[in-house]
Amino acid sequence: MKLIEVCLSPQLAHLFSFEGKIAVIVDILRATSCFVTGLATGVRSIRTVSTVDDCKIWQNKGYIGAAERGGMKVEGFTLGNSPYEYMNKTLVGKRIVATTTNGTYAIEKSGKAKKIILASFLNISSIASYLQTRDENVIIVCAGWEGQVNMEDTLFTGTLIDSLSATHQPSGDASKLCISSYLAERDKLSDTILEGEHAQRLIRLDLLKDIEYCLRWNLFQVVPQLEAGEFIVQSNLNS
Ligand code: MLT
Repeated sequence: MKLIEVCLSPQLAHLFSFEGKIAVIVDILRATSCFVTGLATGVRSIRTVSTVDDCKIWQNKGYIGAAERGGMKVEGFTLGNSPYEYMNKTLVGKRIVATTTNGTYAIEKSGKAKKIILASFLNISSIASYLQTRDENVIIVCAGWEGQVNMEDTLFTGTLIDSLSATHQPSGDASKLCISSYLAERDKLSDTILEGEHAQRLIRLDLLKDIEYCLRWNLFQVVPQLEAGEFIVQSNLNS
């Protein structure tokens, strides 16, 4: 059976080996939900960077700049980190460079993985099917919040691991904790996530509709993956 491990925060990444594995990046509120939405609705590619300065450099090279800190858009950039911004038709065929508080840092910390893919509730079944067809072991990397473990990434991870029980064996206590949390909360998953720290932070910023969108399941059948430094989905390259 293939193994599936969980890194609950990017700050724990140094404790894991990534070589030869598929890293699944999870930032439900809102980075991976945004990136999945953008790539599924026609964005050509998304380059992720960890600093606002690097994002500015790529924006000056002609990329559409997306920058978020503390849940809010950083001044001087075209986009913040709302999925409603990423589904804008003017972005079809465009290249985006993005930096966020936690999600892009989780991607950076997973750099040694054989393959890096982006997961959210919006494409959860496509992610599960993809992992079932692959031979590699898996490490799920949760973005968390500023080093802290968060509710939404942990519960999503438990949901995904539970759906892979026929093909993947949970490895390490973190993966088992995610499953038991999911099994305990599965009848009221959205309500529990809405009580989480970051959801409350976004609600204070009047972004409830972003949360509700990010908690929708399987709107898209895509598996964004990192190729030559940028996230793409195969279908968009033909358009
Ligand atoms: C993050 O990367 O921390 C989140 O996506 C922040 C947010 O957009 O709310």
